[in-house]
Amino acid sequence: MPRPQRHVFVCTQNRPPQHPRGSCASKGGTAVLQAFWAEQQKRQAYDQLSITYSGCLGPCDQGANVLVYPEAVMYRNVAPEDVGEIFDTHIVGGQPVKRLLAPATVW
Ligand code: FES
Repeated sequence: MPRPQRHVFVCTQNRPPQHPRGSCASKGGTAVLQAFWAEQQKRQAYDQLSITYSGCLGPCDQGANVLVYPEAVMYRNVAPEDVGEIFDTHIVGGQPVKRLLAPATVW
């Protein structure tokens, strides 16, 4: 397996409905993960990135959260519709998607 250029972690942490921290699973984290896998398959981008589901990344109230390395870029409030833009702008273009960046107070 070749070493990928980037590694994308998608939070799919789940918690009970009344939990005070909420969870990315309740905000579509699993759908975001599926969208990343589908986009990777569509583009045959297996050398460009690895995609891994993760547990809690920290800022649960901002979810669904996505963390991209090696830049350590945190995206928040990500929806499946945002995944194509993250591919085009960040994974291919090398620039973060500014409108989705977690604020400095969070990350
Ligand atoms: S549950 Fe996703 S960041 Fe905490």
